[in-house]
Amino acid sequence: TAWGGDDRPIIIHHIVSSPDSHQAAEDCATPLPVLRHVADAMAADMRAGLEADGGSDLKMILSYVDALPTGNEKGLFYALDLGGTNFRVLRVQLGGKDERVVATEFEQVSIPQELMFGTSEELFDFIASGLAKFAQKEGGKFNLPQGRTRELGFTFSFPVKQTSIDSGILIKWTKGFAVSGTAGKDVVVCLNEAMKRQELNMRVSALVNDTVGTLAGARYWDDDVMVAVILGTGTNACYVERVDAIPKLHSPNSTSGRTIVNTEWGAFSSGLPLTEFDREMDAESINPGEQIFEKTISGMYLGEIVRRVLIRMAEDARLFGDCVPKSFKCHFLSGINCFCSKRQSIDNRTPDICAMQQDTSRDSEEVGSILYNLAGVNSNLSARKIVIGVCDAIARRGGQLAGAGIVGILQKMEEDSKGLIFGKRTVVAMDGGLYEHYPQYRRYLQDAVTELLGPEVSKNIVIEHSKDGSGIGAALLAATNSMYGH
Ligand code: GLC
Repeated sequence: TAWGGDDRPIIIHHIVSSPDSHQAAEDCATPLPVLRHVADAMAADMRAGLEADGGSDLKMILSYVDALPTGNEKGLFYALDLGGTNFRVLRVQLGGKDERVVATEFEQVSIPQELMFGTSEELFDFIASGLAKFAQKEGGKFNLPQGRTRELGFTFSFPVKQTSIDSGILIKWTKGFAVSGTAGKDVVVCLNEAMKRQELNMRVSALVNDTVGTLAGARYWDDDVMVAVILGTGTNACYVERVDAIPKLHSPNSTSGRTIVNTEWGAFSSGLPLTEFDREMDAESINPGEQIFEKTISGMYLGEIVRRVLIRMAEDARLFGDCVPKSFKCHFLSGINCFCSKRQSIDNRTPDICAMQQDTSRDSEEVGSILYNLAGVNSNLSARKIVIGVCDAIARRGGQLAGAGIVGILQKMEEDSKGLIFGKRTVVAMDGGLYEHYPQYRRYLQDAVTELLGPEVSKNIVIEHSKDGSGIGAALLAATNSMYGH
């Protein structure tokens, strides 16, 4: 195939030997059999991960969320969202079935780069202090009965081995975080201690992954939501599973008979069509050998893959003539002294490749100026067209593989409950900057899902953007698990 096997994939061979982007785009098409294989492997790995811990690339983490929001939730709740370049704090006043969300307020704080490489205490102190400042501004439509402890839904978007709804041990950092002293610790304890140091009277009622928050947030409005997927800096998916389909769950005490499982699909790796550029990027990353699916389809990496392809083309095929893209050689995964690796630019090449793909002007002027700004190169029209072709190839592979992953999840669910997924309306709630802002990626994803499922089934599968649902979702789960009842 165009992407597989060969150490020097055909796509690059063709691009380098013939500067024809159409040919290149054709060569790197991810053919349907590869996508089908990925979907099947995803379903099989999910099963293996449900059997036993460590039995699969997929951790299939139990979320301890077995009661989903109903709409009856009432009161003031907080949410804290930590998972990428920013952390967000949110408060929401819930008014029950008729009034639903009475008021919300949120703030976003960017995390200084040094904190991503610092100590656990420094990171949690920074977060708790932001949260304390935010809590002080409570007022207006928000009201907490006297003497009550504020309750918080904590969205923590890293792999955590949950031990209950309000506790969980960090397995490892992902997405460029390398904070020392957190892995192996209960992140709720870390946050509680930091909140204590801030003299903040708040309690974590629910610890949730961002996918789980998104599912809960979307489910609040729509009972047919069964799956949630994040496509942003990183990627992941969760879904509603039957407790009797989880062999590793020894004492199922869910009254609903269902629970949410966090797949941590970023770690998936079976049968992926990888190139030498992917392998090199992985080898130079801070977590080599890990999160391979994430490195192939998510926002933190797509721009980096394109950069590597373009460098090769500039060197081997004189893509930009005599112009050698100097600054472009610097990449985000290298040491922090490199200017390209400043915190703000960690995931900023994907917006660049996205912007280049939106340029439909005759002379691709925007592409030219982005290339000039990024790499200091002057490009002619044919070089610009080739660059757009490379961006498209990488975005297409990413979107289609994400689509295949979604089909894998749906397939697994359908196998266990014939007709209950494919035979009725089923909603997949999507969120994340990559999905939101990259129209071509979104289209490739949707097309792959439609093609893999066929026209009849895909009519029932609704892929829906659920913007920022994870914050409200976490607050809703704090309400569901409130110590004051709900
Ligand atoms: C990474 C994290 C995962 C998270 C995803 C999306 O893959 O490991 O927990 O859900 O990014 O933010």
